[in-house]
Amino acid sequence: MRLFLDTASIDEIRAAARFGVISGVTTNPSLLAREGGVSYKQRIQEIAAVIDGPISAECVSRKADDLLVEARELASWHPNVVVKIPIDEEGLEAIHRCSEEGIRINVTLIFSPNQALLAALAGAAFLSPFVGRLDDISSDGMELVRQCVDLVENYDLGARVLAASLRHPLHVAQAAQAGAHVATIPASLIPQMLKHPLTDIGIDKFLADAKTAGLI
Ligand code: E4P
Repeated sequence: MRLFLDTASIDEIRAAARFGVISGVTTNPSLLAREGGVSYKQRIQEIAAVIDGPISAECVSRKADDLLVEARELASWHPNVVVKIPIDEEGLEAIHRCSEEGIRINVTLIFSPNQALLAALAGAAFLSPFVGRLDDISSDGMELVRQCVDLVENYDLGARVLAASLRHPLHVAQAAQAGAHVATIPASLIPQMLKHPLTDIGIDKFLADAKTAGLI
C-alpha cells in the first residue's frame, strides 16, 4: 500500500518528504482554507516540486460542463495533478468526460459501494472512500474500503482504492489489511505509526549495554 499525505501545508509535506515514504498528496478546499489565502495553483506547484507523484486538486463547480472546464484548468497546473470530483450525477458525467480526455480523476466523498462502482465504470483513476466520516456516524468505514477493493479486484476495474478520511494509526493498518492501494494520511499520523514503547525501551537497553561493552 502506498502512502499519500492529506494536507495542503507545504511545511508538513517538506517535513514528511525526508522519510521517503510519501508518494503523493491529496488536498481539498477545507485543507486549503487552513493555509491563509495561499493561491491554490501556486501551492499545488510547490507541492509538485517536493513530491514526484499524484497530487489531488479538488473542483468546486457543481455542473458537469463547469466541472470539465475547471478540471482542465487544474490539470494544466502540473502533469502530476489528479483532479478530485465529488460523486453525484453531475460529477459522474464529468468523471466520464474528463477520463475520455485523459484527465485523471480521484472521485471523492464516496460513502457506498454503488457510488464506487459507478465512479470506477465512468473511468475514475482513484476511488476515495471516507472512512473516518462513516465511523463518525457509527457506520463501519473500513468495511467500505473492503467493498471497494473487492469491486475493483473482482471485476478487474482500472481504479485504485485510496482510503481517505483516516484519523488514527489503526485506520492505516486496517486499510492495508483491507487491500487499499493507497492510504492518504494527515502528517500527524507518521510519528504515531512509528512509535512503539518497546522500541524505545529496546534502544535504551542497547545503549546501556553498549556502554557496558565499551562501544560508546
Ligand atoms: C481525502 O482526500 C480527504 O481530503 C480527507 O481524507 C478527508 O478527511 P476528513 O474526513 O478528516 O476531513
